[in-house]
Amino acid sequence: MRVPGDKSISHRSLMFGALAKEETMISGLLTGEDVLNTAAAMRGMGANVEEGDDGLWRTFGVGTGHLKTPTTILDMGNSGTSTRLIAGLVSGHNISATFTGDASLTKRPMKRIIDPLTQMGARFETAEGGRLPMTVHGAAKSKAITYRLPVASAQVKSAILLAGLNTEGKTTVIEDKPTRDHTENMLRHFGANVTVEDIEGGAQAITIDGPQELFGCAIDVPSDPSSAAFPTVAALLAEGSEIKLLGVGMNPRRTGIFTTLIEMGADITFKNQRVEGGEKVADILVKGTNTLKGVDVPEDRVPSMIDEFPVLAMAAACANGTTRMTGLEELRVKESDRLKMVADGLVACGVKLEMGEASLTIHGTGKAPKGGALIETALDHRIAMSFLILGIASDDPISVDDGSPIATSFPTFIELMNDLGAKISADSP
Ligand code: S3P
Repeated sequence: MRVPGDKSISHRSLMFGALAKEETMISGLLTGEDVLNTAAAMRGMGANVEEGDDGLWRTFGVGTGHLKTPTTILDMGNSGTSTRLIAGLVSGHNISATFTGDASLTKRPMKRIIDPLTQMGARFETAEGGRLPMTVHGAAKSKAITYRLPVASAQVKSAILLAGLNTEGKTTVIEDKPTRDHTENMLRHFGANVTVEDIEGGAQAITIDGPQELFGCAIDVPSDPSSAAFPTVAALLAEGSEIKLLGVGMNPRRTGIFTTLIEMGADITFKNQRVEGGEKVADILVKGTNTLKGVDVPEDRVPSMIDEFPVLAMAAACANGTTRMTGLEELRVKESDRLKMVADGLVACGVKLEMGEASLTIHGTGKAPKGGALIETALDHRIAMSFLILGIASDDPISVDDGSPIATSFPTFIELMNDLGAKISADSP
């Protein structure tokens, strides 16, 4: 099977295409709700962004410095990536935009982008606590800065670099822990000059010397490794299964989940490894032997599997022995408080665990838990999908209270999982 296109790459291809001169043609774009919200926002700022009858998306961009103030509020739905990255773009333009979102997004912290973007000259009005709704007034003449990321966040890194795109001089982001580098890679693919330098203590300095013009290009979006993680874990938990996932993105800053599952004893092999559209991809062959064992996940691996801890927790709950996960503070501020939602849900399914402020220790028994619970998902697609995957293996069925957020990142999830033999049904309220 082929899971849908990578969400991070899809967002960026639309944003950069909407900014670039001339046409960009995108194949394999994820058409989940989050990405459609990015498309609508970029249209609202003057770009031409359309899906063709051939399934390809085409953008005709405005050119760096020429985004327009949108005439309506930008409703970003559930999407933190759209909000933070587009806020970066607005900050470097002499325009204003107001962002809002759903009950999940309006709880998420924006201070992390407000601090550096304010240093660059943008002004912000927010709801209490630096939350959405948020109005960004871009700087008439933004200032280049050097900024060391206080949290390992590709969204914050990207917001600053995108503001730097239309800023005179060198904007540098220093990251101590490597986070996904799709922004750097794709800006180069669009013709921008972005440099990455190794500096002291294993850190990296990423610099854009602005202003930089982007030029339309062709983009092939690989399948999303974060989405591929769900059928992968499902196959591992269902003894005797064997699935192949085609054309999955293998960027090393995204593949920590596969490394961890292999350490747990999973039979996963990467076939036909190749480079497509500048990103490493492979077909992933997964064989279910139901013999996973507990592991300690090294903390320096966290950024490369930041979105995969919920589904890893499901595998850990079925594994033989204890799995220890630490350095998870960022899970508290994702689409939901993922640490709490995972822990509460697993306990309801009969799993023994301990949750700390930034850690989770799960005691697997070597067999799937009882299940039979109704799981609260708090508008979080990955919580919903993770527990549905656990329900494939549990003794009793698992229900989630709201499946609708799955459409933000993996609209074909239920259909594809049922094609593989799962029995997931959706009742309309
Ligand atoms: C993303 C970065 C990560 C990740 C999110 C997508 C991106 O967020 O969790 O799903 O596309 O840049 P953080 O930057 O908050 O870690």
